[in-house]
Amino acid sequence: MAQRLFNVEGVRLACEDVGSGPPIVLLHGFPLDHTMWNAQIAALQSHFRVIAPDLRGFGDSHLADGDAENGVGMERYAADVIALLDWLQISEPVVLAGLSMGGYIGWQAVLRWPERIRGLIPCDTRAAADADEPRAARFKMAEAAMQAGNSSPALVMIPRLLGAETRELRPEVEVALRAMIERQSAETVAAAQRGMARREDVRGKLDAITADSLCIVGVEDVISPPAELHEFAQLLAKSGEDDVRIVEIEHAGHMTPMENPAAVTAAIAAFARQCYNL
Ligand code: MLT
Repeated sequence: MAQRLFNVEGVRLACEDVGSGPPIVLLHGFPLDHTMWNAQIAALQSHFRVIAPDLRGFGDSHLADGDAENGVGMERYAADVIALLDWLQISEPVVLAGLSMGGYIGWQAVLRWPERIRGLIPCDTRAAADADEPRAARFKMAEAAMQAGNSSPALVMIPRLLGAETRELRPEVEVALRAMIERQSAETVAAAQRGMARREDVRGKLDAITADSLCIVGVEDVISPPAELHEFAQLLAKSGEDDVRIVEIEHAGHMTPMENPAAVTAAIAAFARQCYNL
C-alpha cells in the first residue's frame, strides 16, 4: 500500500493511492477509515488506480481547530476529496464510491462538482436527512465520546453495522471492525456526528444528477435498508440521462465491502469498466 499525505488549508490528510489505470475513489463510512476497503483496494489495483482517503479526522488524517465542536459538514468532506483530486492532478471525471457517510459525501461531491464525477456508487447509504430522534442521538454520541475521551460510545453501532450471518459465521469481520472504530479519536466521532446530524435531505436534487450510478446494498442492511435504496434509485433515474443500476449483496448487512468483498469488488469493477468504456 502507498500512503500519501497532503494538506488542505493547513490540515494534513492521508490517502492510499495504488495501482494504475482509470481512477476509482473509495470513501469510507463512519466511524471507520480507508481500511474498510482493503479487499477492494487489493483487488481493483491491477486494473485501476485506487484512491482511498482517510476522511478529515479519521485514520491518519487530522482535524482542523474547531471541527470537533462545530461538526464537519458533508460538503466540507466533499471539498477535501476534490482538493485531493486536484493535488493528485486528476482532472478527468472519476468513478466515486461512498459507503454510508461516504455516500452522503458522494452526493455533495456530485451535486457541487458534477464535472468531476463520471460514475457514482452510493453504497449502503441514504439520501434523506435524519428524523428528530436519530439526530438527537448523534449529538448525544458526540458528547459521550468527548466525555469518554475516546470513540468507545460508537461501539454500540456494531450489531447494526453487520448482518446476523456475518456475526455468526465470520467473527473476524467484527474483530476488524471493532479495532477500526477503536482507532478513531473522540474528536473525530464528535466532528462527524455533528456534521451528519445537520446534513441536508438531497432527495429533491437527485434528478439533477446525470452521472451513471450503481447503487449497492446489503440484503440485511438495517441502517440504510434496500427499500430506501430502491426509492432513491428511482429519483436518480428521473433525469432520464443516466444509467442507474441496483446490486443487492447477499450475506451482508451495512458493511457490504467487508462482509461480502468479492461481490462488491465485482460490481464496482464491472461498473467502472462500463463508465470508462474498457
Ligand atoms: C456509516 O456507516 O457511515 C454510518 O452508519 C452513517 C450514519 O451514521 O448515518
